[in-house]
Amino acid sequence: MKDRTIIVETPRLVLRHWLASDRDLFREINADPKVMEFFAFRRTHEEADAFLGRLNGMINDNGMGFYAVELKASHEPIGFCGLSYANMPGIFPDQAVEIGWRLATRFWGKGYASEAARALLDYAFSEKKIEAVVSFAVAENHRSTAVMKRLGMHRVPTLDFDHPRVPDSHPQLKPHVVYAVTADEWNRQAATGSRPA
Ligand SMILES: CC(C)(COP(=O)(O)OP(=O)(O)OC[C@H]1O[C@@H](n2cnc3c(N)ncnc32)[C@H](O)[C@@H]1OP(=O)(O)O)[C@@H](O)C(=O)NCCC(=O)NCCS
Repeated sequence: MKDRTIIVETPRLVLRHWLASDRDLFREINADPKVMEFFAFRRTHEEADAFLGRLNGMINDNGMGFYAVELKASHEPIGFCGLSYANMPGIFPDQAVEIGWRLATRFWGKGYASEAARALLDYAFSEKKIEAVVSFAVAENHRSTAVMKRLGMHRVPTLDFDHPRVPDSHPQLKPHVVYAVTADEWNRQAATGSRPA
């Protein structure tokens, strides 16, 4: 994991492949109860290390994957932002692309998730010619849905679903709300200056 491949840059951030030096941050975001509040699982340090070792290999030929987000000013990793196939048969079409994010709590409230995701949506629509991107979250995960709104994504209530991979032991984490944005909408928002800042 010595590959500092950069996918996109923003004024404050670099989105890049993962490095072995991201280990402590990746352990932190997988174990922190606040970060994982809306997930039915936690990862032990050993599980986080094993998953970190697989992340670069999971980036597909079309450049979709979960990327490390690094602060330009300090070179610190702060979390991840990524694109992936939603992989929800019967809920989304086979090739539906999802965007997601997770930051260590000490980096919340600074606009980093929205800045990273905005750059990744530009990358998805301009470079990878993806036609539409969805995002979904537990309905009460207001910080995540706020990012979706900040990106100019719109609610698609007809797509709301109960997450099939959330165990029955966590019924409150099953109902998910869905947001989406198409390439046309994204480009129109840029052209008209109507995208939220
Ligand atoms: C979801 C998550 C990434 C959102 O993080 P966040 O910090 O709230 O979102 P942003 O990075 O976009 O920051 C927005 C906040 O920064 C503030 N901000 C401060 N400086 C800013 C700047 N220079 N530019 C933009 N916003 C700025 C905004 O006003 C906003 O504040 P608010 O929360 O008081 O409204 C984070 O809560 C998280 O990692 N959660 C756990 C994992 C998770 O649930 N992931 C989603 C699963 S679906």
